[in-house]
Amino acid sequence: MSVSIKENIITLDTKNTTYQMAVNANGYLAHLYYGSRLDGSSAADCSMLGYHSLVPLAYDGCSSELSPDVCPLEYSAYGNGDFRTAPLMLSFSDGSSVCDLRFEDVKRIEKKPLLKGLPALHDEAGKSESVEICLKDKIYDLRVYLLYTAFEECDVLARSVRVENRTGGDIVLNRVLSTCLDNYECDYDFISFSGKPNYERSLNRIPLRELKLSCESRRGTSSHQNNPFVIFCSKDCSEKSGECCGAAFVYSGNFTASMEKTQIGTTRFVMGINPENFRFVLKDGESFQAPEVIHTFSNSGFSGLTHNYHNVIRKHLFRGKYADAPRPIMLNSWEATYFDVNCEKLLAIAKQAKKIGVDTFVLDDGWFLGRQSDNSSLGDWFADEERIGCPLSRLISGINELGMKFGLWFEPECISENSILYRNHPEWVLQAPDRKGMLGRKQWVIDMSNDDAVNAIFDMMCDILDNNNIDYIKWDFNRYLTDVYSCRLPAERQGEVLHRYVLGVYSLLEKINARYPDLLIESCASGGGRYDCGMLYYAPQIWASDNTDPLDRVNIQYGTSFCYPIISVGSHVTASPNHTTRRNTPLLTRSNVAMAGTYGFELDLTTLSDGEIEILKKETEFYKAHASLIKDGDYYRLTSNNERYIAWQFVSEDKKHALAVLVQTRNNINYKPIIRRLEGLNANTKYRVIIDGAEREGEYTGTALMQIGINLRTIKYEGESTRIEIEAI
Ligand code: DGJ
Repeated sequence: MSVSIKENIITLDTKNTTYQMAVNANGYLAHLYYGSRLDGSSAADCSMLGYHSLVPLAYDGCSSELSPDVCPLEYSAYGNGDFRTAPLMLSFSDGSSVCDLRFEDVKRIEKKPLLKGLPALHDEAGKSESVEICLKDKIYDLRVYLLYTAFEECDVLARSVRVENRTGGDIVLNRVLSTCLDNYECDYDFISFSGKPNYERSLNRIPLRELKLSCESRRGTSSHQNNPFVIFCSKDCSEKSGECCGAAFVYSGNFTASMEKTQIGTTRFVMGINPENFRFVLKDGESFQAPEVIHTFSNSGFSGLTHNYHNVIRKHLFRGKYADAPRPIMLNSWEATYFDVNCEKLLAIAKQAKKIGVDTFVLDDGWFLGRQSDNSSLGDWFADEERIGCPLSRLISGINELGMKFGLWFEPECISENSILYRNHPEWVLQAPDRKGMLGRKQWVIDMSNDDAVNAIFDMMCDILDNNNIDYIKWDFNRYLTDVYSCRLPAERQGEVLHRYVLGVYSLLEKINARYPDLLIESCASGGGRYDCGMLYYAPQIWASDNTDPLDRVNIQYGTSFCYPIISVGSHVTASPNHTTRRNTPLLTRSNVAMAGTYGFELDLTTLSDGEIEILKKETEFYKAHASLIKDGDYYRLTSNNERYIAWQFVSEDKKHALAVLVQTRNNINYKPIIRRLEGLNANTKYRVIIDGAEREGEYTGTALMQIGINLRTIKYEGESTRIEIEAI
């Protein structure tokens, strides 16, 4: 039983964690506890943190312990004595922004609800339990519904918030955050995954001091710069030990996540839609649904936290055919031909791709009306026979005849000035009256809050998808949002555009998913500019970065792995020297790094020697043989990202198979690296060890591999890599 409601205490248990809250004497919903499982104990005593005569006290009488200034609260509104970042801020029709939320009601919910218009964890098999708590303002009939779902097996708690206006007048929402966690401690480190294009999701760990720490995006998308996933953890937290709590936002637009230390040494963590330029008008009778946050708590360090996220995303966020099916190995044309999408050239590459075992040939940018460069044509989703050199259907049948499926690139949310779509519908561009919108990659962004625009793009995409044999699409987005103004909305509703934009993107993705249930969508935003749990609901894989240099990629993939399953990481073998960094790296290292992901190729295979084609054929066979271990196995980071080599490992659920990879990122000559230590094996099982295809003499117990490790007995030079298979005997 995950949810228990006893007197005034509400508890949600998972296998190893407990989340607890209580209605206190003043009717505030206090946060009591989130941590290791309590097994029936109550943390109620700890919420009494009396302080000082200056703390604001409710007029209906309460002791200083219950003041919203110091009491750990589950959710609170601005204006009523909670001086921490209150998750809700609004104004009523009388102009007042004072809101006093008190407990109204709690009820169990049979089946985990989906959130209208938004991505969220789902649970058709009924493995989770949910509870909905209603808070109500003391004066106005303004209700806030807090939804909690405990995923017992995954040790995960999902939270979301819905605000309902029954006040009889309009209200304006200025801030509706999705989670608020008040903790009794403050000795935390705050971890974000930050970066820039080509260097996404680099781990950034900072101690929490007196000032508020925040991580956010204001770019309209979740962004390359900060990922909507953060961790706060004990100072001693490492991969294997220590306590940590994660928060992953199931949303692809602007977000904020912040943590602040209070005057009494407690902390508040909040996460939700970034309030900057957010102003949502809610008419009487309407509701606003804020997106979901996925929390987990681990007392076994970051690897425990990672396993929880990987499990819940694989089982309860991914949907459709590819939630579980093996992912196809792809050859993508972009780094092979760029805009030169000539059918003869593409088929020549496809023939080589077939030889190495590729399943799907993907035609990237350049295939549609007049698209010779990034100067034009976005919005005109009609195949350009002249550019391709034959009808698209003929190219596809050529690929199909070779025994491969076909995939196609789209950038549905953008528009070029030089396009038929723009000439017909200039009003579909996001831009303010009398201003020309900023250009980014020479293009504008479509106003996705406008249904007419969304429907028109849908129709164009359907025309291509209905009339061609297409099994995969790459959904790209190469812009940040500027000029956020929709000519369809009145002045007082312009603060809704950023959020309505995201809802429009989700509605288009949902329509495509519903109409083509077997289609695999991979999302992309100039590489990994929109890598978040929101997109993963519609597209179970994401092109992780445009930087495919394996020595940079290992760091990007390292940061990505903390939250996101390895099978969501779009990763390809590309040319050497690398097109972005100009660095040369061995073919096997490029392959080993791409294997910590969906695996595929993105280079002109006609330029490779027969020997190289033969190597890649063997590599593809190796990946296919290990595909389920990589897709479903437990993933361990064996090193941090600032050592001279980086290593990781997959272990099968039955612990009979494991695969470890080491990449030497910097020279450490005279030293023969030891992979220490392997993880997740059975201590008493005997294993055989195969290093780069050659079996090492002897048998190894799980204990020996986990406590001692394996000496590679050979010096590895910068850029080289090694692969170790571990098989139970
Ligand atoms: C940006 C993407 O990240 C690339 O992989 C490629 O698809 C280009 N766009 C195409 O324009």
